[in-house]
Amino acid sequence: MKTIVRNLLLTLLVLIPAAQATGPSPSAQALAFTCAGCHGTDGSSVGPSSPSIAGMDPDVFVDAMLDYKNDRRSSTIMKRIALGYTDEQIREMGFFFYRQQLRNRPQVTDPELVALGRKLHDAHCEKCHEGGGRPGDAGTLAGQWMPYLEHAMSDYLNDERPWPRKMERKVKDAIKAEGERAIPALIHYYGSQQ
Ligand code: HEC
Ligand code: HEC
Repeated sequence: MKTIVRNLLLTLLVLIPAAQATGPSPSAQALAFTCAGCHGTDGSSVGPSSPSIAGMDPDVFVDAMLDYKNDRRSSTIMKRIALGYTDEQIREMGFFFYRQQLRNRPQVTDPELVALGRKLHDAHCEKCHEGGGRPGDAGTLAGQWMPYLEHAMSDYLNDERPWPRKMERKVKDAIKAEGERAIPALIHYYGSQQ
């Protein structure tokens, strides 16, 4: 009898950790491993078409993921990825990436366009994208990958992504002021920041 009880206890001891492993949801860091291939292990992406998401404002992060999930924002892959997570898991990942340090990588920029872009930014964008577009409640522009910013701007201009309140007029003012050079100049300015 004693051995049966003992064996039962041993079996329980073996089973409990296994049950726990499948029980609670994995940590935000574990969830974020799935993102590492494109956004880097800590949210500073290595490739030019995946944006860096380290230090991203958690509300902007959650809105972006829900917009992908619910077809409000066009994407090449993020819709499929966002669909794999509950809203709660998305919130947890948002806080995880917010706590990561953004590390910008150098990009090739044209000094003349950078100077023009700075001027346009100060006149039309700084009000919402403070500090030259540093991470904040209007997302991250400073140091962001330039090919990603090109996609983002053309999505807005082609109405494939809803315009943030009052941004459309400011972007169109910049285009009115400098024509075709306006958007490339702004992108070179953001890309020049480290
Ligand atoms: C296969 C590459 C890939 C993987 C894996 C991936 N992403 Fe993305 N992510 C992208 C690309 C590319 C974009 C730009 C939108 C698009 O085209 O889908 C993007 C955009 C985003 C944005 C919007 C950023 C902004 O500045 O508005 C967020 C937030 C994001 N991804 C979060 C995640 C999270 C969280 C994961 C993991 C659960 C993840 N991504 C996994 C490639 C990827
Ligand atoms: C009235 C406020 C406001 C102004 C002015 C504004 N923006 Fe924005 N912008 C936002 C907000 C809020 C977001 C956050 C993302 C969203 O809601 O789509 C954003 C997002 C963006 C993004 C996408 C970032 C990403 O990670 O995908 C780009 C690019 C951008 N803005 C460029 C500009 C430029 C260039 C100007 C000036 C010509 C400008 N914005 C002026 C509010 C503004």
